[in-house]
Amino acid sequence: MFKIKQTMNEKELLEAIELDKENFPYPLVCNFDECIKWIQKNDNIHTLIIKDEKLVGYINFMPIKTEFYDMYRAGKMQEDEITADHIEVYEDGKSYDILLMAIAIKKKYRSGWAILTLMKGLRQKLEILEERGIIIKRILSDCVTEDGVKSALRMGFKYIGKSKYGKLYEGGIENLSHPAEKRV
Ligand SMILES: CC(C)(COP(=O)(O)OP(=O)(O)OC[C@H]1O[C@@H](n2cnc3c(N)ncnc32)[C@H](O)[C@@H]1OP(=O)(O)O)[C@@H](O)C(=O)NCCC(=O)NCCS
Repeated sequence: MFKIKQTMNEKELLEAIELDKENFPYPLVCNFDECIKWIQKNDNIHTLIIKDEKLVGYINFMPIKTEFYDMYRAGKMQEDEITADHIEVYEDGKSYDILLMAIAIKKKYRSGWAILTLMKGLRQKLEILEERGIIIKRILSDCVTEDGVKSALRMGFKYIGKSKYGKLYEGGIENLSHPAEKRV
């Protein structure tokens, strides 16, 4: 029913921005010009689900330099300060820290197959990275909504402190699979 994609084009980015606007406070709505730079730096930072050529949901799962990960983790850096300079480019056999920047699904598709398909898509990305010998060390999620907190807790992420706009949770790839995905 939903098509999984591992890259985001300009049209999909505009749709993702519309989705952000429905869900996140203004400073956290992704900025088109900045996000294009992120994608130009690393076009492997998104997982999307599509239906009838339209974006239904997306995840931004972005490797960032450890120095900035640690700053973010310590509350010294915020989501709206991230630029392309902070992002890493995946290289075979190397290890990375990840910022799980966003997860969102259009309202009418929530509480159904969409989240399971999106998470399945993320697992597929992880498998491709694993085949390249890439290791994911830590995953940091800045949860700015109740849905975000719910999602982090469901995945078993641990609360580590407050951020400027929300709450910080941390986990690893072991937290990203879910038995329910097998039904998709
Ligand atoms: C966060 C969001 C994508 C979750 O999607 P959803 O469709 O609402 O998912 P639900 O919470 O209804 O979960 C439905 C089922 O999917 C599964 N599921 C949910 N999240 C999952 C995850 N991260 N991994 C695997 N399975 C998951 C579970 O089986 C769950 O059933 P359960 O509640 O009985 O455990 C969605 O609520 C959303 O877009 N919210 C607005 C944006 C937002 O606030 N994002 C967080 C930013 S910090």
